[in-house]
Amino acid sequence: MSPRPQSEATPDVADSFGRPLKSLRLSVTDRCNLRCKYCMPEEEYGWLPRETLLSFEEIYTLTDLFTTLGVDKVRLTGGEPLLRRDLPTLIRMLRDNRRITDIALTTNGILLGDQADALYDAGLHRVTVSLDTLKPDRFRSLTRRDTHAHVLEGIEACLRVGFTGLKLDTVAIKGFNDDELVELIEYGRRIGAEVRFIEYMDVGGATDWSLSKVLSRDAILDTLGRHYGPAESIVETSSAPAQRYRLPDGTTFGIIASTTSPFCATCDRSRLTADGVWYLCLYAKEGMDLREPLRSGLSRDELLALVRSRWEARKDRGAEERKDLEQAGLREARLIEIQKLREDPHLEMHARGG
Ligand code: GTP
Ligand code: 5AD
Ligand code: SF4
Repeated sequence: MSPRPQSEATPDVADSFGRPLKSLRLSVTDRCNLRCKYCMPEEEYGWLPRETLLSFEEIYTLTDLFTTLGVDKVRLTGGEPLLRRDLPTLIRMLRDNRRITDIALTTNGILLGDQADALYDAGLHRVTVSLDTLKPDRFRSLTRRDTHAHVLEGIEACLRVGFTGLKLDTVAIKGFNDDELVELIEYGRRIGAEVRFIEYMDVGGATDWSLSKVLSRDAILDTLGRHYGPAESIVETSSAPAQRYRLPDGTTFGIIASTTSPFCATCDRSRLTADGVWYLCLYAKEGMDLREPLRSGLSRDELLALVRSRWEARKDRGAEERKDLEQAGLREARLIEIQKLREDPHLEMHARGG
């Protein structure tokens, strides 16, 4: 399977708020080997039918369209992306697209012990591992699986094979891990990884969510400030969701305050599900199917026009809209009702890549 040659770049596009199309999250499978309560709290899930999943060739072709319109960063997500067989092959293919300057992976780490070597050899640039707790019993109660040791082994394997710039993502939840912030920072410092605390979000799938469980950025800064002294915020121009901070001892960390302080105004990301539906926002209820047009033989120019016009019409600002509801006292209402989630797996966070 050899990647197709890239054609000439066309001018970059901007959406209706002037936001460019820059970062693409490719979900390579909707399946996961954990059942984190903040993402997959149900016992049973319906999965995307196998025959609808994009082949690597199709992912490559669609990604090539996006990079023609301005995308330069690609992140592989899931479900759990390492459940997709032969992922290093896809990474090698994407490396062939020279407009992509950064290929990253968001993983729960369980399979990293086995795969870190191959991922590194394939040319993956960066890895982010989800790590919500250092306590195996808490991990079990959060994920309903007993595989905490595999995650830590996966993180070690990642560092051993040579990955640098490792990030550890922690969803900060009141009453769950709010007493572990310092331990997580210390663990990150010890192994040379940057910890990022993520505010719990009320996205589709997060049916256990309530405002009372959100550990806010202010609360996180307060806890860390009491232990280490005040953290200073690092000034940098970036559309990345994390605001980074530096502790008095020089240790850096990030906070993704999407719930209390949405960053939609600079959002340049979109998501492609494993079966080729393109979502312009984490909170979007509808996406655009690109698989059917691709498989039915639309020309490259027609596909480009489709993607371009959809992005140019984009008005999404999902996190801000949820915040607006909060002011009106309506935020506790779920983004999507359970019955709807059961009917359409695309509405789930695990189908559109976290
Ligand atoms: P880099 O900054 O390139 O490292 O990537 P990233 O921070 O986008 O990647 P990562 O997958 O680690 O994102 C961290 C978390 O931020 C996700 O798991 C989500 O919880 C949250 N997040 C990522 N993108 C968005 C977004 O577009 N909107 C909102 N509201 N939250 C997001
Ligand atoms: N709130 C915040 N982050 C979430 N993730 C999944 N569900 C949620 C949620 N409800 C993020 C976590 C996880 C990644 C795969 O997706 O960061 O590590
Ligand atoms: Fe972007 Fe939607 Fe997230 Fe806002 S909520 S930052 S528009 S993906």
